[in-house]
Amino acid sequence: MCPARPVMTRKMIIDTDTASDDAVALLMALRTPDIEVEAITIVAGNVEVKQGSINARYTVELCGKSVPVYEGATVPLACEPFRATFFHGEDGLGNMNYPAPASPPAQGHAVDAIIETIRANPGIVLVTLGPLTNVALAISKAPDIVRHVSRCVVMGGAACTEGNITPAAEFNIWCDPEAARICFRSGLPIEMVGWELCRGEANLKDEDIRHCREVINTPLAHFVIDCNASALRANQEHFGEVGIPLPDPVAMAVAIDPAICTRKSSHYVEVECDGTFTRGMTVVDKLNVALSAPNTIVWQPVTGKGWPHITVCWEIDINRWKELLFSTLH
Ligand code: BDR
Ligand code: CA
Repeated sequence: MCPARPVMTRKMIIDTDTASDDAVALLMALRTPDIEVEAITIVAGNVEVKQGSINARYTVELCGKSVPVYEGATVPLACEPFRATFFHGEDGLGNMNYPAPASPPAQGHAVDAIIETIRANPGIVLVTLGPLTNVALAISKAPDIVRHVSRCVVMGGAACTEGNITPAAEFNIWCDPEAARICFRSGLPIEMVGWELCRGEANLKDEDIRHCREVINTPLAHFVIDCNASALRANQEHFGEVGIPLPDPVAMAVAIDPAICTRKSSHYVEVECDGTFTRGMTVVDKLNVALSAPNTIVWQPVTGKGWPHITVCWEIDINRWKELLFSTLH
């Protein structure tokens, strides 16, 4: 008899402002057999850190797992905090009155946990699902961590398209543009998965919702749909979109299965921190003109780092993303 092949696992650390779509992304990572989530770190964003921590711990327990959840930055680096409870519900999970998690948060600060976890696991994949405050603080404190990260999949930004919180900016980047700028300039191997990739047919449509409830019909499948009830309504009210929008799970899908991103290219990307109308915008040098542009000097902090190193995901395989999601709910 052949000896059983050892399963090669991939290590992951996830930074999140856990609300309803973050919870689904966590669940996907936790339920993917070859992924080992080393730590979950909480940042303020959709909800306050304490609430995000409760939501993350609840999700971990629902998946029958035990992963340390560290609480982190409660405010952005240089601006006032802003919550997305209008979108995800007061508790971030659609006000479903889920019971309190049994486990407490892990001891220690999220920023230190990010540093220690990355140093202890060279080659780890970092996935960010919220404002980049924790990650920027970690990089500033320990710049060496940048070279130990094999991939940094960022749910954030709007690549050459409209924003969801201002006309120019996507929520996670807009919440803390100074932090995002630090990360984007740091040399981290960022794969930017913008919010536009969860729109249109990538939303969970009626038939997908029915599939979750009636065909898969597990507690996890019901959780995914229930906790996103508020997001489903808000998506229609605010953006005129039909279905459940899942930006964080789409980013997680790309992290788990890179082939889900079917069109990508590398560019210089800057984060606007000053613009009256454009603060938080991710400015993508799509046509590679930054090096020859009349204002090339302002691009120096990013072009001076060498070749464009931000991989922008332009398109996903929608069927494959949904299949991956469904596969984690059984
Ligand atoms: C991002 O904003 C948050 O509301 C979601 O959780 C996601 O991370 C989408 O713009
Ligand atoms: Ca999020």
